[in-house]
Amino acid sequence: MAIETSCDDTSIAVLKEDKILANVTANQEIHAKYGGVVPELASRNHEKNIVRVFNEAINQSGIDQSELDAIAFTQGPGLLGSLMVGVSFAKSLALGLNIPLIAVNHLQAHIAALYIENPNPTFPFICLLVSGGHTQIIWVKDFFSYEILGSTLDDAGGEAFDKIGKMLDLPYPAGPAIDRLAQKGDPERFKFTYSKVPDFNYSFSGFKTQVLYFLRDQEKLDANFKASNINDLCASIQHHICTYLLKPVAKLMKEREVLGLAVVGGVSANAELRIEMQKLALKNQIPFMVPDFQYCTDNAGMIAEVAKYKFEKEDFVTLDVVAKARF
Ligand SMILES: Nc1ncnc2c1ncn2[C@@H]1O[C@H](COP(=O)(O)OP(=O)(O)OP(=O)(O)O)[C@@H](O)[C@H]1O
Ligand SMILES: [Mg+2]
Repeated sequence: MAIETSCDDTSIAVLKEDKILANVTANQEIHAKYGGVVPELASRNHEKNIVRVFNEAINQSGIDQSELDAIAFTQGPGLLGSLMVGVSFAKSLALGLNIPLIAVNHLQAHIAALYIENPNPTFPFICLLVSGGHTQIIWVKDFFSYEILGSTLDDAGGEAFDKIGKMLDLPYPAGPAIDRLAQKGDPERFKFTYSKVPDFNYSFSGFKTQVLYFLRDQEKLDANFKASNINDLCASIQHHICTYLLKPVAKLMKEREVLGLAVVGGVSANAELRIEMQKLALKNQIPFMVPDFQYCTDNAGMIAEVAKYKFEKEDFVTLDVVAKARF
């Protein structure tokens, strides 16, 4: 069994050999009205949801809890209070059932989401990880052997979607809404300049400010500007973010002998990003990998996938293990 509580989704999965029998997630609606995750509310809601999610996962899996062989949990990175709920619940289960405990790094799990449907990827591959809290370009040498080649200097890609979505009066998290509205809009209508950062890194804060000032100026001329241009705004903003995300990846492809290309994390659910990454892989004649939609945003299935490898190696932790907000 795997437990994920690093942010605002309470998720529990049951894995038997190579098959995920259940992957149950309770999303917390409460944060929408604040325009972002409120840490204290997130941890309280994990406490409220976790037993229900556990029972549902056990029911769906069709197994009895006495059949569980090990309990895995997200150790970090994430919100400390949220992580602590999952860690405590995992420890209690492991102690009560007298079975081993497995600690999982949440970002490793986002990458491992690829292996759920693609157990034999070609290494080395480049993996673009874009989520609500991270944006990294990772050189994946083997299943769990990596080198981080670039990362964001400020906001994450998902955070840029969410914060700009808030400026557009879209509910949190705005990424999925922007994706949906963009499909009806013109991606070339509004242009923004790309932030220049050295090497293979990113910066989103300048772009965010550009959009803020642009909207403010347009609203002086037309108070209804946002609402009447929402589709084109979403399409242009999404196009800017996706084009920007691809730039250093494309540059890297020319410098290295790459045997695969992948995109993971919540933003990998984005239609334009998936299509553009796939095109880049096709152009370079290498395989393209992306997790199934249910394994893009936070879920315990991907935690179980890492745990499977750790279980085989008997890489267990003791009951004095603690959550790590930064990992
Ligand atoms: N279709 C989509 N298009 C764009 N962004 C999306 C889409 N679906 C989800 N997102 C974004 O993905 C993010 C959530 O991803 P995820 O759950 O992996 O992040 P997190 O767990 O909060 O952060 P981290 O994994 O870095 O700790 C949000 O910012 C959300 O807006
Ligand atoms: Mg995540």
